[in-house]
Amino acid sequence: MFKKVSGTKDILPEEAVIWQRLEEISRNTFALYNFREIRPPLIEEAALFNRSLGEGTEIVQKQMFLVHNKNEAYALRPEGTASIVRAYIENNLNKTNGFVKLYYIGPMFRLERPQKGRLRQFHHIGCEAIGSPDPGLDIEIITLADNLLRNFSIEGYTIKINSLGCRPDKKKLVDSLRQGLKAKLERLCPECVIRFETNPLRILDCKNDACKEVVAGLNISDTYLCPDCREHFNKVKAGLDFLKISYAISPRLVRGLDYYTGTVFEITQKDLGAQDAIGAGGRYNNLVQELGGEQAGAIGFAFGAERLLLAQNKNINIPDGNLVYLITLGEPAKLEGLKVLDELRRNGVPCDTNYEDKSLKGAMRKANDLNSRFVLIIGDNEIEKGTITLKDMRSGEQKEVKTKDILKEIK
Ligand code: HAM
Repeated sequence: MFKKVSGTKDILPEEAVIWQRLEEISRNTFALYNFREIRPPLIEEAALFNRSLGEGTEIVQKQMFLVHNKNEAYALRPEGTASIVRAYIENNLNKTNGFVKLYYIGPMFRLERPQKGRLRQFHHIGCEAIGSPDPGLDIEIITLADNLLRNFSIEGYTIKINSLGCRPDKKKLVDSLRQGLKAKLERLCPECVIRFETNPLRILDCKNDACKEVVAGLNISDTYLCPDCREHFNKVKAGLDFLKISYAISPRLVRGLDYYTGTVFEITQKDLGAQDAIGAGGRYNNLVQELGGEQAGAIGFAFGAERLLLAQNKNINIPDGNLVYLITLGEPAKLEGLKVLDELRRNGVPCDTNYEDKSLKGAMRKANDLNSRFVLIIGDNEIEKGTITLKDMRSGEQKEVKTKDILKEIK
């Protein structure tokens, strides 16, 4: 018997309705902010991610699902931002649309060690706003993330924010980190000793206890920020204060990916254990240019949908079923039933029937399991009288209705 690949999941119908609701809430909320959907391919040139996320990042070094074909290397997308910036440039969205607000919902792939809340195929609900450096946009994006979480009925989360500043500021931050860590190298794990050379910012995210201790002892002040970046970040904080969005300033939040500059944020939820980040994002003001486009300020975020579902303490409201379940008893009833089902479906009424050979009692149980709104019964008696027995599953009321009136009655 074949089994699913480790770190992947079958989303079965009972769970799929919850996903549909999550997606519907997302789409409705994104629409309130005038974001429009984009659906880039799941596969891209691997070099796109190497260039955008950075050669020294965990994702590029260890986690990419690579597909080789002759001299080409493709990757199953590990995240959405790079693809969307590629699509923005390739489709000239800067020229046709100017400033754009795009959202996406779909699977991402990372070759990680699977555990609770960490999969190899997981889903992002994310957005990217490209074409403006305005701090007002940072405020809108963080507010949008907060609103999505409220609409998903998620509680107990913390929005952590920081600013990495522009490229020269970020370099100053990296230099000062190296300075602070230089004398403590022998206390770091072997991987962090390599990170010290390749990407010291990643040491701040290391889960090793000894490294955490070293990091906790570092004095990280925001002196690396230039006056413009400091003013930008102050405006973002003032806007969030004004809107009463609660957040925590987190000087150790640096985000592992190279493209980030300026405001960065991460949202954690208290009940999730080791994998407690439900979403993250930030500005990437140089990426469009670095990938061959014109200079364009940009910011976005992505939620991990599986983690959102783990973090929900109340189930999201699933609207009641509105299925009509038709039970036919005997051959003539089956034929008549085909006509009834066809008429109902052509008029937009969702319905199903008993294809399994069950007794009336068994078929009623099935109708119940399917959370049917109405049950219709056609047997020899009904055929003779030209009627259908209609049962309202909410009130339990039952009556006979002329076959020709059934659509009107149900509507
Ligand atoms: P990220 O932090 O790598 O950011 O991923 C965003 C979220 O995806 C995480 O906070 C987490 O909830 C979820 N996630 C990541 N890896 C896994 C996994 N293996 N299994 C389950 N969930 C996972 C990005 O990808 C950026 N592109 C976000 C962004 C958009 N920044 C700007 N725009």
